[in-house]
Amino acid sequence: MADLEKDIAKILITRDQLRARIAELGNALSRDYAGQDLLLVCILKGGVLFLSDLIRAIHIPHAIEFMAISSYGGTRIESSGVVRIMMDLNSNIAGRNVLIVEDIVDTGRTLAYIIENLRTRNPASLKICALLDKPSRREVKVNLDYIGFAVPNEFVVGYGLDYNEIYRNLDFIGVLKPEMYAKPAEDSESAT
Ligand code: IMP
Ligand code: MG
Repeated sequence: MADLEKDIAKILITRDQLRARIAELGNALSRDYAGQDLLLVCILKGGVLFLSDLIRAIHIPHAIEFMAISSYGGTRIESSGVVRIMMDLNSNIAGRNVLIVEDIVDTGRTLAYIIENLRTRNPASLKICALLDKPSRREVKVNLDYIGFAVPNEFVVGYGLDYNEIYRNLDFIGVLKPEMYAKPAEDSESAT
């Protein structure tokens, strides 16, 4: 971990802050969905650490599913909104209460695509739980029902979030040193 930490300019959200906020989100979800069906849909790969802690903070019965999305033609620090489903859900969500679990909402393009796609499958309800919200960068309006933390307009990594697939294992959210991504990236297709 020490090796990776040297690339971090500053820690924005500590492990303790993550733990405390996720406990609050788990309580809110347990209350809001009490007595109802609940299916959490985790957006891979970035949402996976958040999902694994969030479900342990939820004390009502629920199921989980995964969906993998990739974004094409953007840079390594910016999504293009041209997204593709790399791995789809394994179950039918018609009539279910679906909660999308996402790592971060930046421009909102990725989430807008996912929402539009899942809506066509007729869930009973469709809500969003995002660990991080970067509102200053929003280009497409998306309604976030549950938000962990708002973050400033800086590129963050850790706790599931990557730069070029690295840093997901950091147990805090940190700002990557800009020199780490100063080199212009080629057009690429990358996992969210
Ligand atoms: P959007 O489509 O611009 O909202 O971007 C959403 C996706 O881009 C997220 O699911 C992340 O995978 C990635 N992303 C956006 N901002 C960051 C960041 O600051 N750090 C790491 N990944 C990010
Ligand atoms: Mg990503």
